[in-house]
Amino acid sequence: MAEVGVDIQKAAAFLRQGQLVAIPTETVYGLAGNALDIKSISSIFETKNRPSFDPLILHVASLDRIHPFISEFPEKLKRLAEAFWPGPLTLLIPKKSIIPDLVTSGLDRVAVRVPNHPLSLALLDQLDFPLAAPSANPFGYISPTQAGHVAAQLGAQIPYILDGGACAVGLESTIVGMDEEEQVVIYRLGGLELSKIESLVGSVIVQAHSSSNPSAPGQLASHYAPRKPFVLGNLTELVPQLIQQGKEVGVLSFSNHFPSLPSDRQVVLSATQNLKEAAQRLFMAMRLLDESDAELIVAEFVPETGLGLAINDRLRRAEIQPGLDLK
Ligand code: TXA
Ligand code: MG
Repeated sequence: MAEVGVDIQKAAAFLRQGQLVAIPTETVYGLAGNALDIKSISSIFETKNRPSFDPLILHVASLDRIHPFISEFPEKLKRLAEAFWPGPLTLLIPKKSIIPDLVTSGLDRVAVRVPNHPLSLALLDQLDFPLAAPSANPFGYISPTQAGHVAAQLGAQIPYILDGGACAVGLESTIVGMDEEEQVVIYRLGGLELSKIESLVGSVIVQAHSSSNPSAPGQLASHYAPRKPFVLGNLTELVPQLIQQGKEVGVLSFSNHFPSLPSDRQVVLSATQNLKEAAQRLFMAMRLLDESDAELIVAEFVPETGLGLAINDRLRRAEIQPGLDLK
């Protein structure tokens, strides 16, 4: 079973030996390994049960540490990096051959970010290699936002979990690149709001919802999903209907509490309707309800603005059509 602690030296030692360590970031916990070592990379794919066509994000300590790994730095992307790193922003940049093809699944661009968490920045600063780190969950499941989430699912397979507390942002990074017409494209909505990106580089193209043969498999429709049936809709209509049908319903609401439901089967994301708080709590809430004795989970969209865009994107991907008669 993984040791859980805050010992950066220990984490660094495991990583230098080619082993994997779970690391905290401001977005979600990552399953990290030496990005320049094929064996470490392979074991990331194995541990997560992740298909090898789904490439990994490179994590570095600071902006000036990326130059050995990229062959050019498009001006608009550089502007974004200067403004938002360290932070919840991943950039797709043409790579140098030192990055193993396994990291990028054979693609020409490598995904890079500087995470904003003091423990992981201190760890990266000590290492003479970058860390490849996907979210530290089994492929397709909800991303972990606490050390305990990682321990519960991957604890038996890795030696160490660096515990940085609950992730402050709670949603994965926003993934940004350029297309052939030099337009800025958003490949995954995430913890950095669209409006902040557009304020620096003008209007962008959002390509985050296509599901066939995506260039970023984080775009795949069924992702971030709980195991229980997960239904989106109008809670004030759905909840009474389901209770009347005798269903043990679990409720994920934006701000309303349902007094008729037991408290261990409902989570309010933000009583004050604060989207930042809702984002921070979303994955924890999905896990809690998935582990509760609810037989299905119903949830509602949050306002489609700011971080609400990324929250609603994750809710949509978590939805599983249960084939229930909800009318
Ligand atoms: O916030 C985050 O980004 C977290 C933390 C740990 O940094 N990481 C994360 O990694 O969410 P992961 O592997 O769960 O999602 C990364 C997404 C994947 O959907 C992958 O397809 C896409 O990034 N990606 C990685 N490299 C890419 C590349 N070269 N071209 C296109 N998409 C890429
Ligand atoms: Mg992931």
